[in-house]
Amino acid sequence: MIPVCRIEDLPEGESVRIEIDDATPAIAVFHTDGALYAVDDTCSHQDASLSEGWVEGCFVECPLHAALFDLRTGAPVCLPARRPVRTHEVSVVDGMIHVRPAVPEEEAVA
Ligand code: FES
Repeated sequence: MIPVCRIEDLPEGESVRIEIDDATPAIAVFHTDGALYAVDDTCSHQDASLSEGWVEGCFVECPLHAALFDLRTGAPVCLPARRPVRTHEVSVVDGMIHVRPAVPEEEAVA
């Protein structure tokens, strides 16, 4: 599990981008709708940062071309994005938010 920040440092409606290492794509963590969500930070359409997008309920709107992603599943719900972004497990331990990055598909089947 990767520590992100303390829960009080990510108020409702806010998001944060975390970079883990060169081999792991950046992750965006959102606090919205009373829950925490983590998805790949880079939009599946082009190279925009979803942590800079607009959040409403369980959805984030990409800041570049306005594709909307469901934070619960990573699925796009409108064009121009067609592919989902990966979701990641989030937990809070002793007030600290942690993320467990999803295993990349090629490693999961190896
Ligand atoms: S980069 Fe996100 S919709 Fe185009």
